[in-house]
Amino acid sequence: MSELNCLIFISGNGSNLKNIIEKIDSGFLKNVFIREVLTDNPSAGGLKYAKEKNIPIKIINDKYNYDNISSDINRNDIGLVVLAGYMKILPKDFVNNHEGKIINLHPSLLPKHKGLNTHQRAIQSGDDVHGASVHFVTDELDDGPVFIQGLVEIKESDTVKTLEEKIHKIEYQILPIAIRWIGEKLVEKNGSNFSFRGILETEPIIYL
Ligand code: GRF
Repeated sequence: MSELNCLIFISGNGSNLKNIIEKIDSGFLKNVFIREVLTDNPSAGGLKYAKEKNIPIKIINDKYNYDNISSDINRNDIGLVVLAGYMKILPKDFVNNHEGKIINLHPSLLPKHKGLNTHQRAIQSGDDVHGASVHFVTDELDDGPVFIQGLVEIKESDTVKTLEEKIHKIEYQILPIAIRWIGEKLVEKNGSNFSFRGILETEPIIYL
């Protein structure tokens, strides 16, 4: 695949960032480069994974804001922005200026359970299945075209904690696949939908 320069946005633990780094190191993600890790939270635990790899870290605040990030995206040939546990809503201008280049990892089977506390809401709704989705970001919250999902069964014994663990395992599989598909130009945003040029000709949903 041709070179894919990425920015990864995180707000907390960054276990998905760690996983992406591992997938680059293992060769699953070839020619994928994390050029910067950005955060709204200077004490985000996940920043340690960037430090370990000498990946530059940028703190988003009044001094370094979304306009600065936009200029950097254009100047540095950034092909993909990955929201991997980023808890802030991006400004509409920013999203519209980089349409089709921003993806978000969301811990539910979208369009179900947009927003926060998805595991708790899945249990409370009596859902039989839950999961995680990767979608292109649009200016509506958790609403852009979903192009990969992974599912888990909700058992009687499941709690928010056990579901969170199961969902993380799913996320560690689907997010690298999503990045790889984009790097290989197999998937791209196409208006309010997406187009996929790989082997999967039906909805690319992974059943795990
Ligand atoms: C993930 O479950 C992601 O779906 C959600 O926030 C969590 C981030 O986990 N948006 P981590 O910071 O990657 O460990």
